[in-house]
Amino acid sequence: ATNRTFTMIKPDAVEKNYIGGILDKINAAGFRIVAMKYTKLSKEEAGEFYAVHSERPFYGELVDYMSNGPIVAAILEKENAVADFRTLIGATNPAEAAEGTIRKLYAESISANAVHGSDSDENAAIEGNFFFSSLERF
Ligand code: CMP
Repeated sequence: ATNRTFTMIKPDAVEKNYIGGILDKINAAGFRIVAMKYTKLSKEEAGEFYAVHSERPFYGELVDYMSNGPIVAAILEKENAVADFRTLIGATNPAEAAEGTIRKLYAESISANAVHGSDSDENAAIEGNFFFSSLERF
């Protein structure tokens, strides 16, 4: 799965009608959409998705926030997808995100940071499998 990554457009960006703008940036950067859905995580599901962060001080805030409203989840394909997508979205903290990145354009804070991007090929596969069956990938 070295050519795939997983992303979510988070509740803050959905609420502010940034879905179209963010998808434009993703397509313009050369990513192909393999799978996509508009959905909402329960608190339990958000907790499971972010279980890797369960010991972090911000875990509770993160789970509450991510289950607070609908999201767009997607699997994206491109050569070097994980690293190139992280470059496209910019630093986790939008105050540190480079000019022109999705988080610089659309994020408001470190927790409401507009988009998620997998941090490794292994996590991209795990996260994609959390949301999508094989019948939902094209
Ligand atoms: P994401 O890439 O979705 O993965 C983990 C998330 O935790 C991250 O984006 C941030 O939204 C959130 N996060 C990371 N550090 C902090 C922090 N210090 N305070 C609040 N949220 C954080």
